[in-house]
This record gives sequence, structure tokens and C-alpha cells, in this order.
Amino acid sequence: MTKRAAILGSGHYVPTRVVTNDDLAKLMPTSDEWIHQRTGIRERRFIERTGIGASDLALPAAKMALEQAGRDVKDVDAVIFATLSPDVNFPGSGCFLTHKLGIPGVPALDVRNQCSGFLYSLSVADAWVRAGVYKNVLIAGAEVHSTGMEFNERGRDVAVLFGDGAGCVLVGEATRDGQGVHNVELHADGVGAQELWVEAPASMYIPRLTPEMLEEGRHFPRMNGKQVFRWATEKMPEVAHSVVRRAGLTMADIDMFVPHQANMRINQMVAAKLGIPEDRVVHNIERYGNTTAATIPIGISESWREGKIGPGSRVLMAAFGAGFTWAGAVAVL
Ligand code: ACO
Repeated sequence: MTKRAAILGSGHYVPTRVVTNDDLAKLMPTSDEWIHQRTGIRERRFIERTGIGASDLALPAAKMALEQAGRDVKDVDAVIFATLSPDVNFPGSGCFLTHKLGIPGVPALDVRNQCSGFLYSLSVADAWVRAGVYKNVLIAGAEVHSTGMEFNERGRDVAVLFGDGAGCVLVGEATRDGQGVHNVELHADGVGAQELWVEAPASMYIPRLTPEMLEEGRHFPRMNGKQVFRWATEKMPEVAHSVVRRAGLTMADIDMFVPHQANMRINQMVAAKLGIPEDRVVHNIERYGNTTAATIPIGISESWREGKIGPGSRVLMAAFGAGFTWAGAVAVL
């Protein structure tokens, strides 16, 4: 049997504070109708108070993933943390998480590939496990977006999209025939770097942050929504087709498609292009909004717990996001 790495368990956590579209409409000119029609989002979760970082959200999700995998925290021999909203600028959130898990000395790698961050992390974990470098790699995807958005007319196109949350998986050696990660494919194209970005503070500027930049809101995310939409609906189907083909499968073999949750319309368009019916596509954007690096592991964890997927399920994943970056993967649980 070829040595493969497999997703052995998954977990997720979202803050308890529910923020509806109507709640946002009290802060800025927007409406439930506008948001729901264009994105599918009804509500999202925001952290309850100051002082809660991405690593705090990842902690319960990590414990849940370990429990499902039947592993102890002491079994984790590497952590990969994907986030665009780390607890602080540096060090990485992985260091905070290993400390909170009580596993001193275990290496922690932060991955900064935004919405594709989970699949980039899966690619690294897969290679580490197959090469025998590490046996049990914990991947965390976690974001606290709510503290970094602008709740006014200028920022409303972005502020309605994002929510806070965390998802984790444990990747270790496959033990069953066919089980495991069969293909991961990663892409990036910096031509889109300024189409979705947070420009400041920036180490290329002297000084990194000025009162003018704050005034102009250059420390908040800026997005060319139409460009992102166009690229996402082209690149996600492309990479999904490629990983399925390279795994020696067809779309009809896929039991569940877990796409990144950026926008319900993007995912419906992608699923239609792939010919995957609605009942085999995971959607939770209506409840959580876009949790970026966390969307795919949250989708896996919820679907696993709801019995929609389980041991033997063939799962297709695809993501597109800032960078631009995009990625796909096929895994048999
Ligand atoms: N509420 C009400 N009106 C708004 C809001 C809001 N929250 N935001 C923008 N508007 C206004 C605009 O100002 C504009 O007004 P105007 O016509 O008077 O100029 C009008 O609504 C239409 O704006 P558009 O940008 O044309 O709206 P569009 O139909 O393109 O939808 C959206 C915007 C939802 C952002 C869409 O472009 C989209 O989904 N893009 C994908 C972006 C995405 O998913 N990003 C997530 C991060 S990347 C990732 O995860 C893949």
C-alpha cells in the first residue's frame, strides 16, 4: 500500500455572538435583502469581547479534532496555522496555539494564503506525513475578522462578507486501503495582489503607518468584488477538475464537495460548472459568512458530525482568495 496521509479527525468552533444582517444595517447603509441576494449570508459570528485571538478560537476546534481522531494532544508533533488575521503581527498564531495546547517544543508554522490557506496547509501536512518527517500534524484555520473591518458606507462591501471562526483537522498516516489525501494542487498569481488586500501598515513605507493612511482607511481590507468574482468562478472549477482527474476519479465519484465559503452565488456557479448536484455541496455561508482559512475545515467538521460524510467518503475541496491564490484537493476520509 502506498503510504498516504489522511484527515483523521476534524473540529470547529465559532464565537457565540450572532450578528445578523439587520444588526449590520443599524451600523451602516445596507440591508438584509442586499446582502442575502448577492452573497447568501444571513448572519455571522463575531468575538464576544476584546482579547480573543485566532488562536483562542482554534483551541476548542483543535481539541475536537484530536478527540475525533482518537489522539491525545501529546501525539501532535507539528502545528500548521493558516490565518490572515493572526492574534498579533508577530509571532505567528501557531506559537500561541502550541502554548495554549501545552505542547512546548512542537514546531509551529504559520501559513499566509488567505482563503486558500487551509489547502496550502494540507499540502504541507500531506508531504510531511508521507515523507515521515512528522506523524501527526494539526492544521488550524482560524480568523478574527470582526476587529479589522470598517462598519460604514466606505467599508460596507467588505464588512458584510466576513465572520469569525475556526476549523481544525488532524493529518496522520492512513491505515485503510484507499484512505488519504489523493491530490492537492496549489496556485498563485500576484497580478491580483492589489484587488483584495490590506495595504497598511506596510514595511515598504517609511513610516509604515501615517495619520493620512488611517484617515483614508488603508489599514482596512479593500476589494474589487467583480474581479474576485470573475476569477473565483473560473479558477475554482479549473483546479477542481484537475485534482479529480489526477486522482483518477470523475465528478460522479465525489461524495461531497466542500468549497471555500466566499459567496453562495460563486459556489452555485462553480458546482453547476462541475455538474455536482446541490445535495452534494456543503454550504454554511448563510450562518457564518466568509471565515477565510476556516471555511473548509468548518465545512468538513460540520458535515462529518451531521453524518453527511464519514470514513470512506470521497471529498473534493476547492478555494480561491486574496493573492490571488487558489487550490484544490481530493481526500478519502
Ligand atoms: N449594502 C448595500 N449596498 C452596497 C453594499 C452593501 N453592503 N456594498 C456595496 N453596495 C453598493 C455599491 O456601492 C454599489 O452602489 P452603486 O451602484 O450606487 O455604485 C452597488 O451596491 C452595487 O455594487 P457592486 O459592487 O456592483 O455589487 P456586486 O453585484 O458586484 O456585488 C459583491 C458585490 C457581493 C461584493 C460581489 O462583487 C461579490 O460577491 N464578489 C466576490 C467577492 C468575494 O466573495 N470576496 C470574498 C473574499 S475573496 C474570497 O473569499 C473568494
